[in-house]
Amino acid sequence: MASSSNEAAPMNATVDRPPSPLESLIEAEDSLSASQASLSSSVFEFIHEHGHRYHRKGEALLPNDETEQNRLDLQHQIFRMLLDGGLTLTDLPTDEPLQILDVGCGTGIWAIQMGDALPNATIRGIDESPIQPSWVPPNVQFEIDDVTKPWLITPASIDFVHIRTMAGCIPSWPTLLRSALGALKPGGLIEVTDIMWHFECQDGSMTPDCASVKWADNFHELASMTFHVDFGPSPKMEGWLKDAGFEDVEVRTKIVPVGPWPKDRRLKEIGRYFLIQMLEGGMENYSIGLFTKAGWEAAEVHAMLGRVRSEITDPKVHSFTRAWFITGRKGQSLGSTAAL
Ligand SMILES: C[S@@+](CC[C@H](N)C(=O)[O-])C[C@H]1O[C@@H](n2cnc3c(N)ncnc32)[C@H](O)[C@@H]1O
Repeated sequence: MASSSNEAAPMNATVDRPPSPLESLIEAEDSLSASQASLSSSVFEFIHEHGHRYHRKGEALLPNDETEQNRLDLQHQIFRMLLDGGLTLTDLPTDEPLQILDVGCGTGIWAIQMGDALPNATIRGIDESPIQPSWVPPNVQFEIDDVTKPWLITPASIDFVHIRTMAGCIPSWPTLLRSALGALKPGGLIEVTDIMWHFECQDGSMTPDCASVKWADNFHELASMTFHVDFGPSPKMEGWLKDAGFEDVEVRTKIVPVGPWPKDRRLKEIGRYFLIQMLEGGMENYSIGLFTKAGWEAAEVHAMLGRVRSEITDPKVHSFTRAWFITGRKGQSLGSTAAL
């Protein structure tokens, strides 16, 4: 019955015509699921170097493997001790339905404990590495994303932004802080926290040419000269927050002893945890990628770290560093159109 003028095309022929609405929809869904599949598989693509696992992007200087995850969880306990058991220096209302954002949430330990502590709040943790557990409190969500890219968060929707130990991960703090300001509701709060890799001593037991000072100096110099990243941004944070438009900016620092040398029991405990954190991952995880990418031999790095290790485990050396807590508030007059 087929007429010669209107013959059906064979099944395998290329049909040169615009796709029907149904075909367009199927194509769009296929390409969406293909891009989602590539996103979800690509975040699980890791690089293995020097016995560590790194996020796939070449410039990742810190690993995301088990040693780093254990270190992050140990470091979290140090922050809780510094905060006398708390999770923030900022006072937050405990019974309101706060929207909280944890930028670079790591293993998610802070977000999960916040979710337990504030059952009425919703905690959203964002990180580029998928190292968070899947079983979490119902008010906690994790997302995989790059926080240095424009934020997809609804402007003026967040009550509190938490940014902890992101030194070395952020190429432009002013840009990140502007994103945070845009995401915050008027009157919303921010807390930026870090522990400096910079060793001090008040009794002369650590000399200026000792191994830990040299290591830290080399580390900061290579990070800024070779990789253009700042592993010690805390002293500049107050100015950056004010420049971004935050108000009531306050800076508070707390002593973190390197080792259990202090007499004070609380500081002794913090020092013990911090020393373990350095020995069990901190020094190597922060150093091996950065120094080798900058041209050092792995053996040279390990030899340097060996010298630092013997120094910081010597109870006669009384060194310490500081944790920085910088807090601020978005002004009431800055509405939802604040810069993103
Ligand atoms: C030192 S960890 C801190 C983790 C967590 N804030 C804490 O205090 O336990 C830094 C985290 O930032 C994440 N990170 C680094 N660059 C990032 C980026 N551009 N976007 C999202 N996350 C990033 C890393 O994957 C890592 O989990």
